[in-house]
Formats: sequence, C-alpha cells, structure tokens
Amino acid sequence: MATTLEEPSTGEAFASYRPLDDAVLSARIEAARRQMGAKLVILGHHYQQDGVIAHADLQGDSYQLSKSASERTACEAIAFCGVHFMAETADILANRPEQVAARGGKRVTVVLPDLAAGCSMADMAAIEQVLDAWSDLGEVVDLSQIIPVTYINSAASLKAFCGKNGGIVCTSSNAEAVLKWAFARGSRVLFFPDQHLGRNTARRMGIPLDEMCIWNPHEPRLGGNDAKQLLKSRVILWQGHCSVHAMFRPEHVDAMRTHFPDIKILVHPECPMEVVDKADLAGSTSYILKQIEQAAPGTQWAIGTELHLVKRLEQKHPEQVIKFLSPVVCMCATMYRIDLAHLCWSLEHLAAGTPVNVIRVDDETSRWAVTALERMLSVQ
Ligand code: 13P
Ligand code: SF4
Repeated sequence: MATTLEEPSTGEAFASYRPLDDAVLSARIEAARRQMGAKLVILGHHYQQDGVIAHADLQGDSYQLSKSASERTACEAIAFCGVHFMAETADILANRPEQVAARGGKRVTVVLPDLAAGCSMADMAAIEQVLDAWSDLGEVVDLSQIIPVTYINSAASLKAFCGKNGGIVCTSSNAEAVLKWAFARGSRVLFFPDQHLGRNTARRMGIPLDEMCIWNPHEPRLGGNDAKQLLKSRVILWQGHCSVHAMFRPEHVDAMRTHFPDIKILVHPECPMEVVDKADLAGSTSYILKQIEQAAPGTQWAIGTELHLVKRLEQKHPEQVIKFLSPVVCMCATMYRIDLAHLCWSLEHLAAGTPVNVIRVDDETSRWAVTALERMLSVQ
C-alpha cells in the first residue's frame, strides 16, 4: 500500500458536522482559512460542487492542480478537493526531497476531506496486474522498447512503476505531447488505465486502430491477445475507463445535431472514440472552459463531461446556449463526496494542529513516482 493514513478519520467527530447548514459551514470554513492564512492552500478540481469551489484558492484540471502543488514552496498544508490520486500526486510533488530540505525538513500536510473520494478508473489497474502484464509482455516483445505511460488517474504505485521503467505520467491536457515523448524513446507504449484517452490520443496522432490492442488484465494469457497482435501493436491499451464519460454515446451527439443543427459538440477525451469522432472538439476540462470563454455570444454547445462543470459553465455564461450532451445524469459520485461538511471538518482539524485524512505516499514510491511526474511536467 503506497499511501498511509497518519491519522485515521474518526466517524464520530465528523458526525457532528453533518447536521450543520451550508451557511454555518461556509462561515466556519472561512474562519479556519483566516486562522491558517498563507499556510493553507485549498485546491479544487473543476468537477467539484459549486459550494466547495467557492472556497478554493485555485480551481483547475488535473494538470494545473499538480503543477500548482509542485510550485507551492511556502504553504504548510494543502486541502485537496478532488479525488484520492490527486491528493497523492500533490503529496509527492509538494514534498520532493529538495523542497522539504528548503523548508528545513518540514513536510506539507496534504488532506483529502473525504477518504472515500476515490476514482473507479484508477481502481481498474492495480500494481500487481500491471507487473503481471509487464512480465507477460516480456515473453513476446522487447521490454526495452515499451514505454509505460500512466494517466495521472492512477495510484502512486503505478506512477512509480513508470518512473522505474523509463515511463511517464500524462493528463488529458498533455496526452499527445507525452505520447510523442514516449515514441521518441521506444517503439511501443503500454497505456493505462484509460483505454479511451489512449485510443483517442493515438488516433489523433495518426496511429491506425489495427496498430493498437486492448490488454484485459482479467484474461489468463497476454491480456487476451495473441503474440502476432501484440507484435503489430504500437499502443497497448489497458482495458479501463471512466464510468462517468463512458455514459456519453454517439446517439446523444446525433440527437443533439438533429434538434439543434448549429450546435457544437465539445467533449472530454475520456469519452469513447465513437463519441469523440462525432464531436467538433475534444479536450481536457480546462480546454473545455477555454472554448466556452472564447466563443462568440449566442454560440450553441452540447458538452460531454461531468455534470457539475457543465452546470457551472451554463450559469457563468448566460450569453451562450449550453446543454448537457447526455439525456441522463453523468456525475462523478466520488468527487461529489467532498462537501462543505467534510471540508469544514478537515480544515478545522488542520487549523487545530490535529489533521485528519492525511494522504502520505511512502518515500520509496514517491521517489520513483516523482521521476515520472517530473518527466510529465517537463514535456511541453
Ligand atoms: P482533467 O482534469 O485532466 O480534465 O480530467 C478529468 C478527470 O476525469 C479527472 O478525474
Ligand atoms: Fe475518475 Fe471519471 Fe470521476 Fe475522473 S470523472 S475521478 S476519471 S471516475
């Protein structure tokens, strides 16, 4: 287990926050922030609910939040309003040995307000499965020619695996640049855990589908492939997906275009290829924000990404027509676990010097994971 919890969460203590109403919680959150001043930074992913985002010092996508964590030299604590892998990444980057030394040995304490905020996609690739896949692949292809690339939506142990094996981390905003980096160093890529981001990005780079294969970690041999297929494959895609973005379907795009002929379809690259192919534009959450901010008033959009972000864009940009691409609710239930009660609970404990829900990646895992993360941060 790469992450240890220094202080187990105490359900009883949290229970007293649950009945408090939002106004009380918000006032207490702000009081805790004032008490901690510049020592505290609150980071919030775009998919967080509005009430939580209102308290964030920085709202961003996975890349921006990682970069911000890596650049925080002065703060003593980060409250990460996002999911588990994001808080792990923040811990690794904020506590690189040279930064800890520059702070006189002091670590930045990273807390995740609710430890149940995980990511179902990250859970689809366990380190044991990746190690098995690597050893199986070695029976068929030259491992020195395979560059492992992990999406940032993965456990720290997978990032460490990439660091140790000449690989790299990517986010949805730099996946193409990262794949180019990988192909400058090897002839194949093992991409995990999101098959869709891997496939959509490789297609965009001109890699044909018959030079990609799926690695199913539950198959007893070679991930369900034969040796011939693997030898032909330049991109080996882990069979994982985001349960939120997998809900967008190509027929949703067709229905939107039928009802609104001028509409522009804007989706996240975690959506299946059939959706991305039919869309006008695809990109990370910050890319989606940028498109809306730059568009002419009156532009019609159907957006395929997490519901909270789309609703916020709809409210912020009344000059545009913004619709949710799917007729059904697609929201990230784990991101949604971070609410004002959990944020208040974690901040008041931080301010009191008794932090709860501390995310701490062990030193050996961090040492290798940081190698893969720094490679990512250096790729333009
Ligand atoms: P980005 O933050 O890279 O857009 O990814 C979205 C996501 O699914 C985060 O979990
Ligand atoms: Fe994971 Fe998808 Fe939620 Fe992102 S939106 S945290 S990938 S389940």
